[in-house]
Amino acid sequence: MEFPNLHLAIENRIATLTIDRQKALNALNKEVIQSLHDAVEWLDGEEDVRVVVLTGAGEKSFVAGADIAEFASFDAKQGEALSVTGHQLLFDRIAAAKKPYIAAINGFALGGGLELAMACHVRIAADSARLGLPETSLGLIPGYGGTQRLVQLVGKGRAMEMMLSAGMVDAATAERYGLVNQVVSAEELLAAALTMAAKFLKNSGQAHTAVIQAVNAATEGAPGFAAEQKLFGQCFTTVDFAEGTTAFLEKRKPSF
Ligand code: CAA
Repeated sequence: MEFPNLHLAIENRIATLTIDRQKALNALNKEVIQSLHDAVEWLDGEEDVRVVVLTGAGEKSFVAGADIAEFASFDAKQGEALSVTGHQLLFDRIAAAKKPYIAAINGFALGGGLELAMACHVRIAADSARLGLPETSLGLIPGYGGTQRLVQLVGKGRAMEMMLSAGMVDAATAERYGLVNQVVSAEELLAAALTMAAKFLKNSGQAHTAVIQAVNAATEGAPGFAAEQKLFGQCFTTVDFAEGTTAFLEKRKPSF
């Protein structure tokens, strides 16, 4: 099977799905989100696949976020719709997949990129990876589940600091926070993800699906996800959003 902007390789019942839009550091535009949705749907129905490894092409970036150029001129309604559609098509869809997804974080995982890694069930990072939710530097909040899933993974205090500072943490800090399960060298990243996938393969796929459903029953769909979508949309009406996104596109620091 082929999906635009993605590479798919399947071996020994493990699928490796690589996002390839390197000119924008693999940022998630509408097409990439749709492609990933189609790939996740297809992989869920593919009996020959039991575990999925998700990574980014190139050495620099896993995914550098949602595509800022695409939404810079949106109004509140379009902003909220962007968030709602993204949740439905991709982020909640991966979280609810029948098979375990391992994010292999090969570089920058920022904004929607970290949110994508957090929607996966497990994360392994290269020691060169940098992770963060920088949306407040754009006058925004995370809109693809990050306000909820980051709190679940690292706790409220660390999540608040990461979102309020818009800063990045290195891979070692991410491991200490529990944001990633394991850190390895960049060269070993895919092998480490495949080794973990092979461990999963020894166990029941049907039980894996049930574990994902049981865990999600407590962590997904909380009222916070709906609040995030609404508040994300409201940000699009602000002066700070106009300044933050314009500054990014003009390659300068924003002035708030
Ligand atoms: N959207 C669109 N384009 C992006 C992008 C993004 N999120 N991230 C990087 N790019 C583009 C840059 O515009 C640049 O394009 P040009 O070559 O055409 O100018 C190219 O990718 C390379 O990026 P840089 O020149 O900026 O590379 P760098 O090494 O100097 O910096 C970086 C790397 C720190 C990751 C920087 O690119 C960056 O800060 N990116 C944006 C990160 C971000 O804010 N992500 C959150 C997006 S908002 C979001 O995700 C909302 C949500 O929750 C729904």
